[in-house]
Amino acid sequence: MVEPKFHPAADVASVPRDSVKAVTVDTLSVLLVHTEGGIFAVENRCSHAEEPLACGRVKYGWIACPAHGARFDLETGEPLTPPATAPIRTFPVRIDGDTISVLLS
Ligand code: FES
Repeated sequence: MVEPKFHPAADVASVPRDSVKAVTVDTLSVLLVHTEGGIFAVENRCSHAEEPLACGRVKYGWIACPAHGARFDLETGEPLTPPATAPIRTFPVRIDGDTISVLLS
């Protein structure tokens, strides 16, 4: 069986609680979001009009798109409010020592 390949994305210390960090993982722009629920990884692109989600407000387990305000569940990527109707991509996160690693799927 082939072990899934987690990609190193950032140092844990560079994403403190209540912060968002945009990183590039294997050419894909990914947001690492550290909330009270843990560290989440989502694609840095809104499903509505493909605007970046970086700089979006984060609260209660969701991130809001700064362009038109759609909110997405950080864990599932599902849209919670319009105008988005499709989910965003989410990725499993693993902490390897001091490194946050992301599994691109
Ligand atoms: S581009 Fe994100 S809500 Fe429109």
